[in-house]
Amino acid sequence: MRTLVNLTLLLANCLFTCLSVKAAEFTKYRDQADKLISQMTLAEKIGQMTQAELSALGDLSDVADLYLGSVLSGGGSDPQDGNSLESWTNAVEACKQKALDTRLRIPILYGIDSVHGHGNVLGAVIFPHNIGLGCARNAELVEQIGQITALEVRATGINWSFSPCITVPRDDRWGRTYEGYSESSPLVAKLGKASIEGLQGPDLRNPDHVLACAKHFVGDGGTSLTMAKHEDWPGFGSEAKPMYDQGDTVVDEEVLRAVHVSPYLLAIQAGVGSIMPSYSSWNGVKCSASKYLLTTMLKEELGFQGFLISDYDAIDQVDPDYKTAIKKCINAGMDMVMVPNNYRQFIELLTELVEEGSVPMSRIDDSVRRILQVKAAMGLLDAEPEIEVDKSLQESYGSAGHREVARQAVRESLVLLKNNNQTLPLSKKLKRLHLVGRGADDIGIQCGGWTIEWQGQAGEVTTGGTTILEGIRQALGDSVEITHDLDGAGSAGADAVVVMVGEMPYAEGLGDDHDLELSESDRQAVLSAKKSGVPIVVVLLSGRPMILDTTLELADAFVAAWLPGTEGAGIADVLFGDFEPTGKLSFTWPREVDQHPINQGDQEYDPLFPFGYGLSYAKDADR
Ligand code: GLC
Repeated sequence: MRTLVNLTLLLANCLFTCLSVKAAEFTKYRDQADKLISQMTLAEKIGQMTQAELSALGDLSDVADLYLGSVLSGGGSDPQDGNSLESWTNAVEACKQKALDTRLRIPILYGIDSVHGHGNVLGAVIFPHNIGLGCARNAELVEQIGQITALEVRATGINWSFSPCITVPRDDRWGRTYEGYSESSPLVAKLGKASIEGLQGPDLRNPDHVLACAKHFVGDGGTSLTMAKHEDWPGFGSEAKPMYDQGDTVVDEEVLRAVHVSPYLLAIQAGVGSIMPSYSSWNGVKCSASKYLLTTMLKEELGFQGFLISDYDAIDQVDPDYKTAIKKCINAGMDMVMVPNNYRQFIELLTELVEEGSVPMSRIDDSVRRILQVKAAMGLLDAEPEIEVDKSLQESYGSAGHREVARQAVRESLVLLKNNNQTLPLSKKLKRLHLVGRGADDIGIQCGGWTIEWQGQAGEVTTGGTTILEGIRQALGDSVEITHDLDGAGSAGADAVVVMVGEMPYAEGLGDDHDLELSESDRQAVLSAKKSGVPIVVVLLSGRPMILDTTLELADAFVAAWLPGTEGAGIADVLFGDFEPTGKLSFTWPREVDQHPINQGDQEYDPLFPFGYGLSYAKDADR
């Protein structure tokens, strides 16, 4: 680990030195921002620092009455009129119009988690989650995905994406591992930069691009088990539990900088306009309230010129007294607060804090300046800002062209871990192919979390796309009989069997998993298929490396498919040899769960499959 840290440190330090040369110049809009600030009342300033949840805004009058600077839709938070391109467009345009009904007519930023495509909105193209893109290692493709995501987000009028997540997950038992590209900081840095460049484009004024948000600063992926309670989370219960998510990252500053800070250097260099501090803590101090991290390190030392947006009610966790929590976070350097619901109380308390001198006006002005500089860079402070969505963007929304790019990403994300006797690629000249497992025909399972619902959702209710079974049917045509069951009983007599195993959708801490084992039904399905005597291909749909045990031994071939998104045909492309498997593991694959955390560079390193592992058909024919 120390060797790797030293190497990453070297890279990080040389980036630190050259950074100030290329960081985005949001400060060139300072005069424009300061001119506005000089006219603003305290209420208007604090309004700019407040982000409210759409579902809490009712008739939207508070957008104008409270001079709100931003609105968000969290995971699964749809407009009152339902979930369609039209309902989203109408809701976003209505919010934008309300903001222009104010004295200074400062437009809002509307934020959403388009972390693998425009995941909240039906009909959007859903790309592989970051773990799959990390295995593809194709920065140009990641940039292209960012561009397409920006187009589909803009098609609903939204102008801010809470992505990319540039976490460096170090323990796969964390429920957000799949939101990370890799355990390797340099790989995360490279792909995070590409995503930001795709989302924001060369000029933030371009209406086809959106403001990006690098998250979650810092060390969100390096936490150890910490007791936590989330009574508002579905199914969490009322008792505190040992959690990785939102936990405490206990490392020295050298390791923090080398492993977790380093991706932010390239993000800042790429001109990211917003950064989201993490719920988690560093050595016992909440990131959201750490003046050293947010102001001294990020703003002063690294020269970040954009603004900081808190995570969803993250400041509430800083202190049991809400007013004290607000004071700590704003004085630490937080610029905009994703309240998201009790935004009136937030505004009242921050107003009190300024009026009583607990939060200096200079701190407020710095936050408002940063927010207005980014809005200026986006062209939002120019003459008449656009309200109406550019309807031409809606023509390419969910288009075949966009889906082709997603299908390429699926292909390139697949990692071939085993291929005995050249079981793969499968011939297309089969009499019968038998498919096993629920994941074979379920868009929700193949998309995972952050899809239509916060937690994602198995079953038909999710967005349109191509299931793995449909993709195989397209590849084989009508000449091959394709059968499908959930338990493998139908495998006997088939010419080939593909067994889909893996995880049901989850997001954030609800995905924390202490054993990472496959379900009993998955294991039984593999056993049952194996009894058929037919060579079996096992395909894993998961947000992370799982503990495979006998499942790997029983498989004649094994493919890690991660969470591929809506374009399941990309899996058939590889299984039947139209494309080679090229993916290489961006995470170490452990033998046993107790090996965690296990990462490349560790002194003791005896994984099942090492970082960078991945077979191909041609070169590895005999493996
Ligand atoms: C969530 C996540 C963050 C997301 C935000 C808004 O809790 O931590 O990644 O951007 O809330 O949905």
